Amino acid sequence: MQIQRVAVIGAGTMGHGIAQVAAMSGQQVRLYDVDGQVVDRAIGRVRQNLDKGVEKGKVATADRDAAVARLSGSTDLSEACAEADIVIEAVPERLDLKQDLFRKVASVVREDCVLATNTSSLSIARIARGLPHPARVVGTHFFNPVHIMQLLELVHHEGTDPAVLEAVRLWGVALGKECIVVRDSPGFATSRLGVCLGMEAIRMLEEGVASAEDIDKAMVLGYRHPVGPLRLTDLVGLDVRLHIGTYLATELKNPAFEPPRLMREMVARGELGQKTGKGFYAWPG
Ligand SMILES: NC(=O)c1ccc[n+]([C@@H]2O[C@H](COP(=O)([O-])OP(=O)(O)OC[C@H]3O[C@@H](n4cnc5c(N)ncnc54)[C@H](O)[C@@H]3O)[C@@H](O)[C@H]2O)c1
Repeated sequence: MQIQRVAVIGAGTMGHGIAQVAAMSGQQVRLYDVDGQVVDRAIGRVRQNLDKGVEKGKVATADRDAAVARLSGSTDLSEACAEADIVIEAVPERLDLKQDLFRKVASVVREDCVLATNTSSLSIARIARGLPHPARVVGTHFFNPVHIMQLLELVHHEGTDPAVLEAVRLWGVALGKECIVVRDSPGFATSRLGVCLGMEAIRMLEEGVASAEDIDKAMVLGYRHPVGPLRLTDLVGLDVRLHIGTYLATELKNPAFEPPRLMREMVARGELGQKTGKGFYAWPG
């Protein structure tokens, strides 16, 4: 099984990035969204990213032009997916939405077309449940910004066909990604470790163990993390992390993931981090 034709569903933050790296690696890419303006904007963003790459001397002009030519947009789901070897969904993080979308996709694609989800926390098995040929469902967890972040976390559920997983791993390598393979379990590897560290850092701040700056420096300088856990929580959004922490605490039955009181209070005040200008740090304009 070789993956050459790609359909990306949802042209937001992640969707446009996935489309970009696939087009740059030589694949034909269809980018679909319910909103036509979003599709146009997403293709514009890909173009801008590649233009920047050209300016910096990292992308050859001919490669940019070829990638842009391989990428096309659509607001017709059947037409966008009909020829695809893999369909990757990057729609909002809601189980019902993803299930409903894959049901529609499954009715128009070949039965060996891979159905991949970019979910950062939902169960792959639950997304696959009830679909025809659930063995072709796999998690492809990319990171933001997709064209810069090296990691691709591949998540298989119990019934994922090993041949599908291997084809997707090879595809990930062709995109220039470093792949890790993780069993379908709450938070996979990345969110489980990252959120656990973030929650503990907030508890330490709450207990007055050290300032936010010094807690972050502990991990940056002491453990060579590129960014401290509190600053990272600001970048991701406290509301997003609160949601994931609550989910993981329940699913893993582990209070270490329980969002601390300080975090709940900050979210209630609208201090969500970078996107609202204030979190553990100030984020001016
Ligand atoms: N943003 C991140 O840093 C990040 C990182 C890793 C994984 N993820 C995951 O990726 C997925 C997408 O996140 P995002 O940040 O790109 O979201 P986003 O809100 O930026 O984009 C979602 C897009 O999906 C579209 N959409 C909504 N319903 C749709 C439907 N039924 N059919 C087609 N398109 C539809 C919206 O118009 C929007 O353009 C989520 O599952 C999220 O958890 C996000």
